[in-house]
Formats: sequence, C-alpha cells, structure tokens
Amino acid sequence: MNAPAPSRTASRAPVAGALDDAGVFWIRFDDPERKVNVLSTEVMNLLSDLADAARQAAPRGLVFVSAKPGVFLAGADITLFEKIATPEEGRELARRGQEIFGRFASLPFPTAAAVEGVCLGGGLELALTCDWLIAASTPKTRLGLPEVQLGIIPGLGGTQRLVPRIGLPAALDLILTSRTVDARRAEKMGLADEACPLELLEKRAQAYLARGKRVRKRKWRDLAARPPLSALPLSLARKGVLAKTRGHYPAPLAAIDAVGTGLARGLAAGLAREAELFGKLAVSEVSRQLVLIFFLKERFAKPPEGARTGQAFPKGAVVGAGIMGGGIAHLLASHGMRVRLKDIAPESLGKALSVVRDLDKKLARGSVEDRLRARQRMERILPTLDNTGFDTADIVIEAVVENLGLKRRVFAELEGVVRQDAILATNTSSLPISAIASEMKNPERSVGIHFFNPVHKMPLVEVIPGEKTSAQTTRDAVAFVLAVGKVPVVVADRPGFLVNRILLPYVAEAIRCFVDGAPIRAIDAALLGFGMPMGPLELADTVGIDVGAKVSHILEEAFGERMRAPGLMADMEQRKWLGAKTGIGFYTYGSGKEKKKSPNAALDALRAAPVGAHPSGPGTPGTEEIVDRCILTMVNEAARCLAEKVVATSDELDLAMVFGTGFAPFRGGLWRYATARGLPACRARLAELATRYGSRFAPADVL
Ligand code: 3HC
Repeated sequence: MNAPAPSRTASRAPVAGALDDAGVFWIRFDDPERKVNVLSTEVMNLLSDLADAARQAAPRGLVFVSAKPGVFLAGADITLFEKIATPEEGRELARRGQEIFGRFASLPFPTAAAVEGVCLGGGLELALTCDWLIAASTPKTRLGLPEVQLGIIPGLGGTQRLVPRIGLPAALDLILTSRTVDARRAEKMGLADEACPLELLEKRAQAYLARGKRVRKRKWRDLAARPPLSALPLSLARKGVLAKTRGHYPAPLAAIDAVGTGLARGLAAGLAREAELFGKLAVSEVSRQLVLIFFLKERFAKPPEGARTGQAFPKGAVVGAGIMGGGIAHLLASHGMRVRLKDIAPESLGKALSVVRDLDKKLARGSVEDRLRARQRMERILPTLDNTGFDTADIVIEAVVENLGLKRRVFAELEGVVRQDAILATNTSSLPISAIASEMKNPERSVGIHFFNPVHKMPLVEVIPGEKTSAQTTRDAVAFVLAVGKVPVVVADRPGFLVNRILLPYVAEAIRCFVDGAPIRAIDAALLGFGMPMGPLELADTVGIDVGAKVSHILEEAFGERMRAPGLMADMEQRKWLGAKTGIGFYTYGSGKEKKKSPNAALDALRAAPVGAHPSGPGTPGTEEIVDRCILTMVNEAARCLAEKVVATSDELDLAMVFGTGFAPFRGGLWRYATARGLPACRARLAELATRYGSRFAPADVL
C-alpha cells in the first residue's frame, strides 16, 4: 500500500506524518516553499512533534519518505549557519537536533528511510537513525556527508552512526572527502540495505519493516573500529588530512576527533564531542568563507532569463581532436549529448578517442553500471573527417590549434554548414573572439566558450561574447555551460580573458623569485602554504613552459612590460625543458606510474650563469616575500580587470579564481582575500615591492 500523501492544500507543512490503514506511520517531506527539502528550524520543530506522535501511535513501523522527485533531504538549512553567533549557540543547535534524532533512533518499532534523490548531510544523518535504508536507483539519488566542504562536521550524529553501519575506513572516506554515492554503491558498501527501482521503493521499505528492528551482526571489520586497533586508521587519516590541507581546514581533523571519541567512549560521549566541535567550526572564519562560496556558486548556477533550457542542446559537434577537443567531446557525451568529433587527420581522431576511452576507464571505477554508462558515452561520440552530422548540431565548439587564420576559416566554413540557430563557439584561450568571427555573415551567433585543461577536472568555463555576439547567444552559451555541469563566468573579450590574465603574471613572478635565488621547492611550498592547490612552478611545468611563454607574449603585446616572461623561460624553451610533457622543466619527472618529481638541479647553473639576460632582484626572497610578490601580483591584475570591466563583479571574479585556479577557497576568493587584508594595505605593500623590484608592481590606479 502506498503512503497516504498529506494533501498540499490541507497542509502547507514542509513535513507531515500520518498513520495508514496497514498500521505504518509515514513521515513525508515536501516543502512547498523550497526547491529542495531542508532541515529548517520549522522542520526540526515539526520532526520533534512527529517523533512523539509516532511513539504514541504505536504503529507497526515508521517510514521516512519524500514527495519531491529528486530530493529526499538536502541536509540542514545552510542559511541558518550565519545566524550562529557563538560556539555555544552552535553546540546547542546540534544538541537539540541530536536529541530529536535520538528519539527516532530509540523508537520501539522498526523504522525505515525510503530514499529517492539527494540525501545529504543532516538528511543522511536522519536516515542513519533508521533500522533500514532503502534507496531508489534513480540518477538523482546521491547519499553523502558533504559537511567538511562547508568547513563544519556532521552535527546530527553522522560521525557516530556511520561507522557501525559501514565500518571505519569507509566512514572516514565518506566524511573526509565529502564524496557522495549512488544507490547501487550505497548498497554495496552497506550504507543502504537495498537499491531498488523507484516504483518499488515504498513497497520495499514496508517489506523491511516486517523484518523488525535491525539486529547488528558482528563483523570482522568491527574489530578494526575498536580501540586500540582503531588508533591506527585514525592516526593515518589525521596524517593524510594534514598532508593534504596543510592545516588550513580544521573540519576534517575535528571529524576524526569526533569519530575517535565515539569509538573510545561510546555514543553519548561521541555525540557530545560532535556537537561541541560543530559549534566551534560553525562560527569559524573558514566555514564562513566556504559557505559564502557555496552560495556564490548557487547564485551563478542559474540559467539567465530568456536562455534556452539545458535540454535544448541534445546534439553537439567539436572541431579539432586534440587534448581539449577530446576532453570537450567526452564532457558533452557524459551529459547525454550526441557529439560529432571532427578532425582532418584520421590519426588525431584515433588518438583522441583512445584518450577519451582511457579517461572513461579512470572515471568508471569498476561497477557494471559505471562500465555500461562509459560504453554508452563512447557510443555517443561519432568521429568524422568531414562535416557529416554538423547540420543537426545545436552547438559547435571549435578547438583547433591557436592560429587566427585557421580559426577564421573554420568559422566561415561552419557557418555554411550548420543550422541557422546553432551556436558557433570557439575554445580559444588567447585569440580575440571578435577577430575569429570577423569573416562571418552572422557573427551574432559566435561566442567564446573557454574550457580549462583538463576539461573533466576544471569546473570553470569562461563565456566570452565578442563585439557582435548577441545577448541571446551569450545567455544560451551560459545555459549550455550549466547544462554540461560547469561553472560559467561571463568575461570580456580582452587578451587572456580573465583567469589567464591574472594567473600568468603570478607564475612569471614565481619564476622571478627563482631567478632571484629562492629554491624551487621553497617557492612552491610557500604558495601551497598560502593555500594554492599546486605550487606555481609545478603549475608552469603542467601548463608547459612554451605555452606559458606564448601566452605571456600575447599579454605583453596587449598590456606592456608587466606581462613580460622572465628570460629564463626562453632558455628553458631552447633546451626543451618544457615541463611535464618533456619530462623536465622546473622539476624532472620519473617515468614510473608515480611520476615522482624532484627539482631540476641543472636549472641552478642556468640561474648562476644565465644564457639570456636574467634581471636579478636584491637578494633571495623568503617565504613571506615570495607569497606577497606572487599573490599581490594577482591582486593588482584583478584590480585592473575589475576597473576595465573584464568581469562584472568582484563576486564573479572570486568565483572564477576559486573554480578556475583553485585559489584558496577558505579565503573566499582572491578579491575577498584582498579586501580582508585591506586594499590600502595591499597598495602600500605593492608600492614597497615596486621600489625594490621595479614598475611591474606599481599599484593599479583603482587600488
Ligand atoms: N540549505 C539551504 N538551502 C539549500 C540547501 C541547504 N542545505 N541545499 C540547497 N539549497 C538551496 C539552493 O541554495 C538553491 O536555492 P536558490 O534556488 O534560492 O538559489 C535551491 O536550494 C536549489 O538548489 P540547487 O539549485 O543547487 O539545486 P540542484 O538540484 O542543482 O542541487 C543539491 C541540489 C545537490 C541539494 C545542492 O543544492 C546541494 O549540494 N546542496 C547542499 C547540500 C549540503 O551541503 N548539505 C549539507 C548541509 S550541512 C548539514 O547538513 C549539517 C548537519 O550535519 C548539521
């Protein structure tokens, strides 16, 4: 029998409970005011009443379910966090939630969560209070505890109730990585008792009630979760977290602490510790910034009004089967699009397809469904040497080599082949969109859509309208980028657009620090210590010294001396020390699977006896000087970008830097960092650096 649905008109409550004829108490979430169900204050109050009502009703069993397709419960209401003023307030909020959840956990009759859609954070914590968890295997079903991504820890029992369910290593993995899992994987790891088709969800949940209360069977893995044996995995996890976060993110360490307390001293002590740590973290600066980033992303993740819908792009085409073209084709296919991948060279096509296949293998970790999906993805990519199939494409993305003449020709040719309303996009990273579209009859449908490398990993995509691009095309391009799961930021058609214009001088400054005597490892360690995801010299190697030098020249032509590439780069290019791709750059790379790298000692000789002209600064810079030289170079360029309206707002600038470069998210983004430090202070320090190192540090007027 299906759950009696509390009628929406009779009750506007976001959660309601009712006893059905078969003696099952159904608690159904369906917030009429929101797109997703969340644990708001109102919902928690209602749940508190429902826990008592359910106990009094003495039903055969209880089932939690949601009437919102695609959403079970998205966790606690994140907007509440900024209202928490003190750690004590945060602790009490968690304690009250734990107490309500505890009442569900201790009900004397069997309980089940029938999960379809996202079941995250507090949502999963509620499901974990149940005896049984049944998950519908729909594409939207995802279970996980993403709290550490927001700088907090699960505060409603998640650090305590997950370990007994799935074992210590798997629980730590879910909590520390914020990874979410689908229904099948949840079933495999024991998080869900069963993954079933949506149509059977409520029936299966009821069937589990007939099994009575859950009786925990002891498993071998439980031993590893008991002290003293648990000490080892906990300390390894702590070590791993410290190596990864360099102490910038306290939440994962706090989560390990709460898990450890529960294992050593039992549920009550574990919950108390969890609430205490939750309170402390909820008011921390790191959490405030991470929550800000979450809402920033949400704000710009909406298709602009009047744009085509995400479903308006069933077919795409990509011209140029290089690394970028192959990556873009893979992305489009992963989002259900059928893609034509064109190249004039059959061997390039073959290579691109094998790169896509390798990528698929890496991403599809073994399960039958994953492999099936990978195969379907591959089948959606159709290689071609001519324009076959281009006449039905909704969007064509050009990703041929960075050559203006060639790109112009490609655009002019495509115009005669594609549909009238198809978008013509270029993935150029350095050429003006307006120039590429200059020979088109209808340039209003041209636009830049700049993906970053590697496409499957980098969330940001710059959308660049050219001079003649129509507002409609720009809106549609933004909608398209959202439809393929990326974060779009609209930027002006200026050299380097936004991210590369800010990033290139930063990397160049790091290279100058090396020229001035700082060791390679010290430079990268300084910026990693600041919170960048990769050291700038390793980044230079990853991008390629030749590519970096080429873009620097373009930027120098446009903006003058401050963008000049250090002479050392030309020396490195001459020697073919181009970075990871030639096995040597600032680092030398081992050939094994690990690609172990060590600083290129031969570069020191080059620095001491330069082949080209290397400007040398006054003395070897220390950590603070390295960080200021590199980071303030970015701040200075960002200020110019804002003044020139390369990007409309500082919020979008921050979004672009966090999702395009991994700029320390816990600092809230580059501009937020600059304003927190104080713009006058940035200006003063830049002026000081300018007197020591030269005019490239001259503070931008707007500072
Ligand atoms: N709290 C408040 N608002 C939330 C929310 C939450 N937990 N989750 C989503 N929303 C809001 C979004 O901000 C958005 O609002 P808007 O339309 O006004 O901008 C709206 O709900 C719809 O969200 P999306 O547009 O993102 O919808 P999607 O379908 O694309 O994604 C989602 C849905 C996967 C649930 C995504 O919104 C998401 O990841 N939400 C955050 C989930 C999360 O981190 N939960 C953990 C919360 S912390 C917690 O539970 C602490 C506990 O342990 C004490």
